[in-house]
Amino acid sequence: MMKSKVARTSVLKDEFYMKAALRLARKGEGRTSPNPMVGAVIVRGSRIVGQGYHRAFGDKHAETRAIESASGDLRGTTFYITLEPCSHFGKTPPCVDRILEIKPSRVVVGSADPNPRVSGKSIRSLRRHGIEVTTGILEKECRALNEVFFKYMTTGYPFVTVKYAQTLDGRIATRSGHSRWISSPPSLTFAHRLRSLHDSILVGSETILKDDPELTCRLVKGRNPRRVIVDSSLKIPLSSKVLLDQDRAKTMIFTTTHGQREKLKILGDRGVDIRVVEGDHHGRLVLRKLLKALAQEGISSILVEGGSRIITSFLKEGLADRLVVITAPKILGKGIEAVGDLGIDKLDRAIRLDIKKIIRNGDDIVLDARIKKGPPAHGKKKR
Ligand SMILES: NC(=O)c1ccc[n+]([C@@H]2O[C@H](COP(=O)([O-])OP(=O)(O)OC[C@H]3O[C@@H](n4cnc5c(N)ncnc54)[C@H](OP(=O)(O)O)[C@@H]3O)[C@@H](O)[C@H]2O)c1
Repeated sequence: MMKSKVARTSVLKDEFYMKAALRLARKGEGRTSPNPMVGAVIVRGSRIVGQGYHRAFGDKHAETRAIESASGDLRGTTFYITLEPCSHFGKTPPCVDRILEIKPSRVVVGSADPNPRVSGKSIRSLRRHGIEVTTGILEKECRALNEVFFKYMTTGYPFVTVKYAQTLDGRIATRSGHSRWISSPPSLTFAHRLRSLHDSILVGSETILKDDPELTCRLVKGRNPRRVIVDSSLKIPLSSKVLLDQDRAKTMIFTTTHGQREKLKILGDRGVDIRVVEGDHHGRLVLRKLLKALAQEGISSILVEGGSRIITSFLKEGLADRLVVITAPKILGKGIEAVGDLGIDKLDRAIRLDIKKIIRNGDDIVLDARIKKGPPAHGKKKR
């Protein structure tokens, strides 16, 4: 009885410091990609003597920052890290070696690194050197923090967020295609923030034709993601805003057309990145292949911003991981539907969501959810 109480107290203590490491890790949000966000805390007794986080891609890792923030002898301390330390030379030397140098008596790891070059290696190395390692403390939270990194590392595909602003009756534009603006100004700022947290933004050709968006993060601080346009027949006009200022944000067009040489040349001269790829039997771009190509260029996350046909394709093909829907208190009646035909006849085949957050933003309601993969729990066959 007494023993289990002691064990529980020690887990609570570990969770307390891991929460502190998680808070630190989040400070790197939007700047570490394609690296993960990582936080580290060094504790002696019940006092934090060092702390750090990975601030930006290419910058020092959290473990090194925590060690450098501390002074004096760190032998016998407990080292808390949200993600298993790296064991290979990348832009910086292996963090596991830095930890071994300071000789803590214990290392507490939130989640193992999904990177096949690391996975479990550092934990084994620490143990081999006589350091006690505790794993799995707030593992769910630590994995959720880096859901993008985990998806990218384990599947070789980017993490896909589908986001749109709709009316209460599920329209993303009027029947004439007018959509500016469905949501309120605070939601626009929110949408720009969401952009800044992704490596790229993707839209369909019709959205460029109807809205002529800039697809930049003008309302918030942060980098402009790569703009990706899906345009099989290369029909968007040369005057489109996304094709103008390539110094502000880079644009990539995926197309299936080899024709229009002159247009291709002008776009090339402007610095627009054109990818001519094979279409499917309808001549449409194969989104899965496009995602693979983007992942191979280091793009680990994509924000799909519409329009309706693109959203529908991503959902129908099971390519989306996260759904962010901004619902404005407006009703349009007939108009462009947010999601078109998914070919679903039976309710148990509906796309199911795991709601993470619902917030009120200005006049709007923002729903942030993850798309559940696999068959519904009640649909699973019993053995
Ligand atoms: N409220 C919002 O959040 C929001 C956001 C964005 C857009 N919108 C509105 O949405 C409307 C545009 O939506 P939309 O459905 O007409 O067009 P869209 O989704 O923007 O673009 C669809 C086009 O993309 C191309 N495409 C290529 N491969 C595709 C694939 N695998 N799957 C789907 N499309 C593919 C097709 O043209 P090609 O065959 O020529 O390539 C297709 O016609 C506009 O009125 C805009 O204002 C609203």
